[in-house]
Amino acid sequence: MLAELPSALIAEVERAAELLKTKQRICLLTGAGISAESGIPTFRDKQTGLWENYSAEDLATPDAFSRDPKLVWSWYQWRRQLVASKKPNPAHTALAQWQYNSQLTNQHLTLITQNVDDLHEQAGSDVIHLHGNLWRNLCSRCQIPHTTQLKGHYDREDNIDFDEALITCQHCDGYIRPDIVWFGESLPVHEWHTAEEAAANCDVFISIGTSSLVYPAAGLAQLAKHNGAKIIEINPYPTPNTLVDITLAAKAGVILPELVKKMGIL
Ligand code: APR
Repeated sequence: MLAELPSALIAEVERAAELLKTKQRICLLTGAGISAESGIPTFRDKQTGLWENYSAEDLATPDAFSRDPKLVWSWYQWRRQLVASKKPNPAHTALAQWQYNSQLTNQHLTLITQNVDDLHEQAGSDVIHLHGNLWRNLCSRCQIPHTTQLKGHYDREDNIDFDEALITCQHCDGYIRPDIVWFGESLPVHEWHTAEEAAANCDVFISIGTSSLVYPAAGLAQLAKHNGAKIIEINPYPTPNTLVDITLAAKAGVILPELVKKMGIL
């Protein structure tokens, strides 16, 4: 597949592989673009069907939920339905293989995602979720996790209930909401701390399929650079990230398998 790419890009993949072979601590941040080739629309894509007149920024907020909890819950039930059948693509698989073999290459990989899907886990990766998990719910009032309505973890054999009727908390009667970090909310403390540590102490930071627009996650590359790391970006389109040392401007599902192969892992 790499042969179809421009020779300048192939040279950049080789440069990235050579760099990575000499480095031990690798921090990777993924965004919606890594799941695009699995058929999950990114956040900046226009929504379709019933939801074409809404933007994610209008629905994924605590204010939107307070104003119209049914609307926001229905949108997430629709998103869950959209994502439920999706499978990892070659980008997720390449990262899982690299992570699995990282002891052989004497590397330490920390994989961080902004995505709320579970495609990294399905591929076999250990991953830190900064923005929550589409398959979990919690009470919007008392914050206690709610696991009875939807499957609590990654048990896809269960019947998934996409009912759009609101559910209330058995403890306080508050509305149940998805366990997702909405615009204006804080990131989970433990996950964010781990991500900051990994970014601050890595030799190479790889940004994959993210628009680098949403903070604080977008600041991890700056933290890494500030502490001396090299920055690699994998994205077919330019982003506002100006710190990049190596740009691999093509789809993650094309670049990552080749990158990992050139490092001698596959
Ligand atoms: N391979 C790599 N990158 C891709 C691909 C692909 N096949 N297809 C699209 N992209 C890139 C786009 O060019 C874009 O820069 O993925 C990026 C997706 O950007 P966003 O939709 O903004 O997704 P993300 O960066 O993950 O958004 C961050 O914003 O809406 C909030 O909380 C939500 O986690 C999300 C956060």
